[in-house]
Amino acid sequence: MRIAILGGTGNIGEGLALRFAADTSHSIVIGSREESKAADSADSYESRLANHGIERAIEHADNTTATVDADIVVLAIPPHHVGDTIKTLGEQEALADQILITPAVGMRGDGAGLHYDPPSTGSMTELVAKRVPDSTTVVGAFHNLAADRLADFDADLGVDTLVMANDEEARQQVIDLGNELTGIRALSAGSLVNAAEVESVTPLVINIARYNDDMHDVGVKFS
Ligand SMILES: NC(=O)c1ccc[n+]([C@@H]2O[C@H](COP(=O)([O-])OP(=O)(O)OC[C@H]3O[C@@H](n4cnc5c(N)ncnc54)[C@H](OP(=O)(O)O)[C@@H]3O)[C@@H](O)[C@H]2O)c1
Repeated sequence: MRIAILGGTGNIGEGLALRFAADTSHSIVIGSREESKAADSADSYESRLANHGIERAIEHADNTTATVDADIVVLAIPPHHVGDTIKTLGEQEALADQILITPAVGMRGDGAGLHYDPPSTGSMTELVAKRVPDSTTVVGAFHNLAADRLADFDADLGVDTLVMANDEEARQQVIDLGNELTGIRALSAGSLVNAAEVESVTPLVINIARYNDDMHDVGVKFS
C-alpha cells in the first residue's frame, strides 16, 4: 500500500512516518504544502531510520500529489486547518477512492489544562467525513497517541489506538495497519458517531502527563 502523510513534516506526522517505515513494508510519502519542506523531512526521517539500522526510502511530494497517488491518506494537520486543506484537495480533485485517516482533535486550553473542544458536527472526525467527496472513506484513528513517544525508537509503546469508521472494511484495514506497528494494539470503537468519545480522551492524557511525574507522553491501554 501507498500511505501519504499530509503535514508529515509535523509532530504526529514524523512519529507515524518513522513507525510505518520501521515496522511495515508500505510505501511512505511525506506530504507538505511545500514540496521542499517535505523533501527535507523525508531526508531527515531516512537518516533517523538509518541511525537505527533501518535502510528505508521515504518519498515526498506536495500534499495534492501525495494524495492523488495514495491508497491511504493521513491528515496530520492541525484541526483548525483541516477544513481548508480538504477544500483545497477537493478543488484540485485529489480526493477520490482513498481511505482518509484523521487523528485531529479540537482542544482549548486554560490555566487548568486542555479541554475537549469539538466542532458543531460533534467531532473532528465527523467534520472531515462531511467535507470529503462521497467516494472517499473517512476513518478516525491515532487520536490518543503521543507524537514524541512514536518518534522515540527507544520508547516501548505498549498503547492502544481506537479506530472508527462507518465502512467496516475500511475500519478493518486501518485496524490491521495499526496492528502492524510494534507496541500498538488497534481496537475498533465502532462507527464515526462514536468519535467524540475517543477524541475527548486526548486532552485527558495530556493533562495526566502535565500533573504527574514520569507520565510524559502517556498513552491509553485497555485491559
Ligand atoms: N502531536 C500529537 O502528539 C498528536 C497526537 C494525536 C493527534 N494529533 C492530531 O494530529 C494533527 C497534527 O498535529 P501535530 O501536532 O502533528 O501538528 P503540527 O506539528 O503543529 O502541524 C503538522 C503540519 O501541519 C501543516 N500545517 C500547518 N499549518 C497548516 C495550514 N494552515 N494548512 C495546512 N497545513 C498546515 C504543517 O505542514 P507543512 O508546513 O509542511 O505543510 C505542519 O508541519 C492535529 O489534528 C492533532 O490534533 C496530534
